Amino acid sequence: MKPISPSSSSPIPSDLSRRSLRTHSWGGPAWEKRVRSSTRPRSRNGFSVLVTGAAGFVGTHVSAALKRRGDGVLGLDNFNDYYDPSLKRARQALLERSGIFIVEGDINDVTLLKKLFEVVAFTHVMHLAAQAGVRYAMENPSSYVHSNIAGLVSVLEVCKSANPQPAIVWASSSSVYGLNTKVPFSEKDRTDQPASLYAATKKAGEEIAHTYNHIYGLSLTGLRFFTVYGPWGRPDMAYFFFTRDILKGKSIPIFEAANHGTVARDFTYIDDIVKGCLGGIGYCGEEYCFGSGEHLGEAIESEGEEIYYEAATEWGRAIYTRKYKFRSEGARKSAQ
Ligand SMILES: NC(=O)c1ccc[n+]([C@@H]2O[C@H](COP(=O)([O-])OP(=O)(O)OC[C@H]3O[C@@H](n4cnc5c(N)ncnc54)[C@H](O)[C@@H]3O)[C@@H](O)[C@H]2O)c1
Repeated sequence: MKPISPSSSSPIPSDLSRRSLRTHSWGGPAWEKRVRSSTRPRSRNGFSVLVTGAAGFVGTHVSAALKRRGDGVLGLDNFNDYYDPSLKRARQALLERSGIFIVEGDINDVTLLKKLFEVVAFTHVMHLAAQAGVRYAMENPSSYVHSNIAGLVSVLEVCKSANPQPAIVWASSSSVYGLNTKVPFSEKDRTDQPASLYAATKKAGEEIAHTYNHIYGLSLTGLRFFTVYGPWGRPDMAYFFFTRDILKGKSIPIFEAANHGTVARDFTYIDDIVKGCLGGIGYCGEEYCFGSGEHLGEAIESEGEEIYYEAATEWGRAIYTRKYKFRSEGARKSAQ
């Protein structure tokens, strides 16, 4: 993808939860035709994937990659102004050129979500829509609850009632490791000491996901992304601030850890994150196709009518394990 120069970040403190969910028009035969055509897989074994947050940084790259490999993709995004929406519009234009339609709407709009599932039998949902960023929670805390908790529940509610149920892959975050100081992180590390509201909402999301798997047998795979960078990236991130200051000849403030310790941060290149996301969607039939990541192990056991499936996979630095429970072998296959 061609890099563009994103305009400067302009987080406008708006309380998203007070906004009407129906600010955009949708529906009608022409709209439905567009939705169907965008989601039609090009390859015979391709999936039909709903990508939430498709106008976002990760969502754009994942949507484009799914389309390239032959899957049908429909985007959903509310184009909020947490950072300059013109960057999201530019990403939208890019996806449109490869035949991907992004429906403008909020994940809390259950009527819209239900309509989308009426029009298309999605095989998968790649749920990336969220309020990202750690510092913005001090300005607009309710936007995190709105998108990362209430929005996630809306998506899961609609997925659980859809027939067939789609499999869901969604973005959690390395921020769930919170005050953990042990490195490298392991998925077995504690995640009960979040250091920000953002982290707390992602941790809540993991527990909510577990509940929907436990009660309704929804197939859910959560990926903990570690800070992502690359072209079309988010302008609220430090590497953009640093670059802007360097270009202006300004100095960059260096922060110290306790006892004059140095602070370091690892970044994950967007292509590795995309591989992980596609791998998450890549479970197919009875074989578990884990993309090009390192497959750490899997186990299947039955207990009466219930089938348990456990897998751990490492793609780049996104590591996640989850024990899935399905009511029957059939449900496991159709959910994956
Ligand atoms: N980029 C990273 O470094 C990073 C790290 C860890 C986790 N994550 C997670 O990955 C996902 C994607 O992050 P990103 O960097 O692409 O962020 P992003 O802000 O660029 O993309 C998120 C998109 O979701 C949309 N959105 C937000 N709330 C919505 C709502 N209620 N309804 C519909 N659309 C909504 C936004 O308009 C935006 O386009 C998020 O879940 C984020 O928390 C990202």
